[in-house]
This record gives sequence, C-alpha cells and structure tokens, in this order.
Amino acid sequence: MGYGWEGEKVRLVPPDKDRHLANAVAWLNDPEVTEWTLIGDTPIGRLAEERFFDRTSEGDSADVTFAVETLAGEHVGFTGLHRIDYRHGVALTGAFLGRKDLWRQGLGTDLVRTRTRYAFEVLGLRLLLSEALADNEASIHMLERCGYIEVGRIPRRWFKRGAYRDVILFALEK
Ligand SMILES: CC(C)(COP(=O)(O)OP(=O)(O)OC[C@H]1O[C@@H](n2cnc3c(N)ncnc32)[C@H](O)[C@@H]1OP(=O)(O)O)[C@@H](O)C(=O)NCCC(=O)NCCS
Repeated sequence: MGYGWEGEKVRLVPPDKDRHLANAVAWLNDPEVTEWTLIGDTPIGRLAEERFFDRTSEGDSADVTFAVETLAGEHVGFTGLHRIDYRHGVALTGAFLGRKDLWRQGLGTDLVRTRTRYAFEVLGLRLLLSEALADNEASIHMLERCGYIEVGRIPRRWFKRGAYRDVILFALEK
C-alpha cells in the first residue's frame, strides 16, 4: 500500500467502493459514531453512499474526500476538505473515525495534521475552517491540538440528541 498522503500513523487515500463503501454505511448508521456529528440522524443506505462515492471519484476540485487508513492499510475513517474556494484559499474540514476501538490513540490528530499539510502544501490553501458541536469534546481537543483556534460560537445552532446545541467555529491559518 504505497500510495496516498502519509502521516505518522495514517494515510489519506482515495475512497474506493471495494475497500471503503461497506464501512461507510456501517459507521454512518452507528449512533455512537454520529453522536455529535451533523450527519447520521437519518438512515444512510448503500445506494445513497454509492452515489456519494461516484461523485467523489469524479475528482470534483471543490470537494476532496479521503478514506483514512492506518499505515498497515486498515480502513479506520474518512476526512474531507469541502467547499474549497481557491480564490480566497479557504476550505471547510471534517472527519470521523468509524473504528471506535481505535479512538484516543492519536489517529485523529495525525489525520488532521496530514490533511492540513495536504491543504496548505498541495492545494495551496491558507485558511481552514471547521465546526464542532460544543458537546463534542473529542473533536474540540483534536482540533485545538492541531492548531485550530476558536473564533466564534453560535448558541443553540443545531438540534442534536434531544436539545438545541451550541456550535463552535474554528479556524487554522497557514
Ligand atoms: C473526533 C475524533 C476523530 C477524534 O479522534 P481520536 O483519534 O480519538 O483523537 P486523538 O486520539 O487524536 O485525540 C485528540 C485529543 O482529543 C482528546 N480526546 C479524544 N477523545 C476524547 C473524548 N471522548 N473526550 C475528551 N477528550 C478526548 C485526546 O485526549 C486528545 O487530547 P490531548 O492531546 O489533550 O490528550 C473521533 O473521536 C471521532 O471520529 N468521533 C466521532 C465523529 C466525530 O465526532 N467527528 C467530528 C465531527 S465535527
């Protein structure tokens, strides 16, 4: 497995239906994985996910999605740069690790650092934005550890798990 953008623990590779599709469907329908994400509160079927993979494979330059694998080639999650705006050098970032047994081992931090390097050095971007529900401690710690800083907060922005939740806006400048 010698391709993709490599960090210390993970590699960002193009999504592949054979390697990654079944996991995507399983993970996006797992209420623990989606506890604090905006996606995943309605069923995501295989056909819908196949269409997403098809769109991703066409190489839309405004939206880059990677599957995340360990260096040994084991699939652990997904990440992306979305709504890429080359004129202003900005993109929105997001990620999830579906392998709950591998949480809190630094894979999230490594994927964010690898994604950041790719965004700044390969795509030539200069500003990455991200959002996290204020309840999402894992995501907030991970983003802050990788240099993102809180730049704003919208109170009661999203309805999630029975309540309106604050969202925190994060930014990382090159
Ligand atoms: C967010 C996520 C990618 C983090 O991945 P991870 O591999 O567990 O993160 P790391 O091991 O790199 O940990 C990064 C930091 O967060 C902390 N952390 C991780 N999980 C935590 C938790 N549940 N509660 C509190 N802190 C947590 C770690 O201790 C570490 O902080 P430290 O450097 O101060 O010790 C993973 O938890 C996940 O996929 N969650 C579900 C999907 C999701 O919420 N995605 C984000 C949507 S905005």
